[in-house]
Amino acid sequence: MTNFIEIAQLGAKVLRLQAEPIADASSTETQQLIKTLQESLATTEGVGIAAPQISISKQVIIIASRPTLRYPQAPLMEPTVMINPSFTALSETKEKDWEGCLSIPGIRARVPRYKKIQIKYLDQQGTAIDIILEDFVARVFQHEFDHLQGKVYLDRLESNEDIYSENEYLLAIK
Ligand code: NI
Repeated sequence: MTNFIEIAQLGAKVLRLQAEPIADASSTETQQLIKTLQESLATTEGVGIAAPQISISKQVIIIASRPTLRYPQAPLMEPTVMINPSFTALSETKEKDWEGCLSIPGIRARVPRYKKIQIKYLDQQGTAIDIILEDFVARVFQHEFDHLQGKVYLDRLESNEDIYSENEYLLAIK
């Protein structure tokens, strides 16, 4: 049985900190953090998670796009661990679409994000990776990246009118 890790909820200070870069991707400590993060994500219906969400202020995220109860339309992508990620926008304008967050239960919102981005990160072995992401997975990346900057998706909204209750969201996407 895996230990249940509590997901930090909005209001927790750790969600508002600038996360520390990882100095050694292959260290035992980093590998343990990745394992804990993977286990935490597996217990949720989320499509991504960032270390600050398990109260560890380090620059590690996992993107795991897959159709779930929370995101029935999500494309399937192999769970990808990203250490010290950064990105550059390859599209000028942003598009609004739905997001939710395990740290902000009960609501969804339409969040503006770049459609196409170039990202750089270290993988679990410490290898430098440079790839282009588009659409939903680019959105998930930008959401998780924000968690490392002490930001949440609510900070990105154009209007509070873009916030919906979970129930109203489910009606809206039907
Ligand atoms: Ni989130």
